[in-house]
Amino acid sequence: MAERQHVAVLPDSAALAAAVADHVVALVRATLAQRDLAHVALAGGSTPRAINALLVAEPRRSSVEWGRVVFWFGDERCVPPSDPDSNYKMNRETLLDRLGIDGGCVHRMRGEDDPGAAAADYDAVLHLQLGERPRLDLVLLGMGPEGHTASLFPGTVGAIDRERRCIAHYVPQLGKWRITLTPHAINDARNVAITAGGAEKADALRAVLDGPKQPDLYPAQLVHPRAGDLRWFVDAQAAAKL
Ligand code: 6PG
Repeated sequence: MAERQHVAVLPDSAALAAAVADHVVALVRATLAQRDLAHVALAGGSTPRAINALLVAEPRRSSVEWGRVVFWFGDERCVPPSDPDSNYKMNRETLLDRLGIDGGCVHRMRGEDDPGAAAADYDAVLHLQLGERPRLDLVLLGMGPEGHTASLFPGTVGAIDRERRCIAHYVPQLGKWRITLTPHAINDARNVAITAGGAEKADALRAVLDGPKQPDLYPAQLVHPRAGDLRWFVDAQAAAKL
């Protein structure tokens, strides 16, 4: 039995989004109380939409100095930033544009470029901006119905270079390339928040949290910040089998 991590179970999707939005606000405010900038990696997929909608509205909007936040990404699809599948496009439209954030403090994974080159470039920018051991202040993640997180999919994590912070790899399940932060980068973060909502996540959530350690099968099990805080935010449907 895996040790039980800090798992907040919320009654429904609206409460889940509110809990994550409040966690983001609290962490960014605490970070900015100690340092000039807060470095936050945004998640992809669909769950962030409801969270972002709460962050751009009052009272949360004006409770954070968003101009002191540097935005990164946990992963990206290998598509142009204008593509409907782009995690950047989703976060640009639902969060960054609505907060009036310009390109200056947004580090986009260049999904339109050669995947390997784009990942190497991102790896370099992480080191350039955050030093030899880049530590993000907050990494926001989701979890797929089969236990993937970021673009760390089952069967794809064994070959990841443990020194790299960002890599690109072909994901056979999708038949597509993805760019993703590595477990090394995620686990160096000061805070990680993983959100999983909906009945379709229940089996994987049980396997990840309570099942045997099988990170190649359930890559979300790779998320264990070395010197940071990990919080899971799940709704009752996703938690139904815990
Ligand atoms: C992506 C995400 C991915 C996502 C999960 C959950 O690029 O798709 O980074 O890891 O967080 O698949 O997606 P939903 O929020 O849509 O359930």
